[in-house]
Amino acid sequence: MKNIFRKLSIIFLTAVLVFTGCGQAAGGSAPAQESAPKEDTFVPRADDGRTVVGISMPDRLLERWNRDGYFLKEQFERSGFEVMLEYANNLIDTQISNLRDMINGGADLLVVTAVDGAAISGILEEAHRNGVRIIAYDRLIMNTDCVDYYVSFDNYQVGVLQAEYIIKALRLKSSRNVRNIEFVTGDPVDNNARYFYQGAFDTLKPYIDSGRLCVPSGQKGFYETATAQWSTDIAQQRVQIILNSYYPEGTRLDALLCANDSTALGAARAVISDYPGLNKVVITGQDADIANIYNILNGEQSMTVYKHLKRESVVTVSLGKDILEGNTPGENLIERAGWAFDCSYNTTDYNNGNKVVPSFLLHPIAITAENIEKELFETGYYGRNASGLIYAAK
Ligand code: BGC
Repeated sequence: MKNIFRKLSIIFLTAVLVFTGCGQAAGGSAPAQESAPKEDTFVPRADDGRTVVGISMPDRLLERWNRDGYFLKEQFERSGFEVMLEYANNLIDTQISNLRDMINGGADLLVVTAVDGAAISGILEEAHRNGVRIIAYDRLIMNTDCVDYYVSFDNYQVGVLQAEYIIKALRLKSSRNVRNIEFVTGDPVDNNARYFYQGAFDTLKPYIDSGRLCVPSGQKGFYETATAQWSTDIAQQRVQIILNSYYPEGTRLDALLCANDSTALGAARAVISDYPGLNKVVITGQDADIANIYNILNGEQSMTVYKHLKRESVVTVSLGKDILEGNTPGENLIERAGWAFDCSYNTTDYNNGNKVVPSFLLHPIAITAENIEKELFETGYYGRNASGLIYAAK
C-alpha cells in the first residue's frame, strides 16, 4: 500500500507542485510572507518497506507529554506504522540529536513538540531534504517553510478562559473594589506561551486600564512575567519575591494568573509559604494535571483549562496517515474523519515567521470545583481507585 501511495504522491507532486512542503501553505490558506512561492523540492523518501513515524516530545517532567507520547505511539502503531518515540529532557541539543536519529532511522513523518520553537529549523530542513513530512504537535515550529501542518488547541482561547474565570471570581464587572493581580506566564521559547498570555491579557486589559485591576509589582509584559521551562520552582521563587517585595502585610493579593498547572503549583506553594493574607487567592492553570486536580478539590487552585490530549493525538494520527497516503488534507479531513468532537481548520492565525501553517485546532474547556466531577470524572477522563487516589484514564 505504501508503494502505491508513494508513487501517486510523486506523480502528484511532479505534476502540480502544490503540496505544503517548503514554500507554500496548503488548502488555499493565506500565502507565505514571500511574494513568490518557492519551488517545492519535496520528494518523499524511497520506499524501504517500512513506514516510520518519529515522535519527538520535549520532556517527561510534565504529566501531559508522557500521556501525549503514549497516545500517539499507541495509535500510530495500531495503524500499522513503526514508531520511534524520544524525549528531549527539555534540551535543544538533545531534541536535535533525537530528530537526527529519527531521520537516519528511516522516519517518513516527524511529529514534533519543540523544546524551543525557533531552534530546530536547521534539522527540519535536513529532514525535508530527506523526504520527511513534518507535523508540529501542540507547539508551533518557527522560522521554517518545512513544517507541513500544526495540530493544537486554540491557544489564545486558553488565556481567555483563565481571564474570564478571574473576572467572574473577582466580580470585576459589578464590584467597585480595586483588585490586585500578578501574572505568571509560560516559557518564552514556547510559541504557545505568548498566545496564552495574549488571550488572558487582552481579556483583562479593560479592567487594568480602568484601574479596577492593579498589578502592584508593575510586571505586566510577557517577558518580565515569563517562567523559563515552565518550571514550578522558578514560578514559586518569582511569586515569593513578588510577595515579599510588593505585598507587605496588609496588601491584599486577589489573583495569580498562571499560564499552566506547573506554574500554578509553584504559585500555590508561594502563597502558602509567603502570603500572610487570609483571603483565598484565585489561581488559574492549564492541563488538569493530577496534582492540580487535588489542589482544585482542596481549594488551593481555583481552575484549570482541560485539553483533551487523546483527541489531539487522534487528529494527529489521522492527519499523519492522510499525508503519508499522499493526500493534501485540509478542511476535508474533518468531514472525512467524522470525529465526535469539534475541531477547526485554520489557515490564517498561525504564522511561523515564514508562512501561515495550516492548523487543526481543538477546543479547551475551563474546569472549576463546580464542574470538575461532571467534566473530568463522569466523562471517564479521570478515575479514582479503591483508595480514592485519582488516576488519568488511558
Ligand atoms: C502546552 C501546555 C503545557 C506547557 C508546558 C505548552 O506548550 O500547550 O499544555 O502546560 O507547554 O509544557
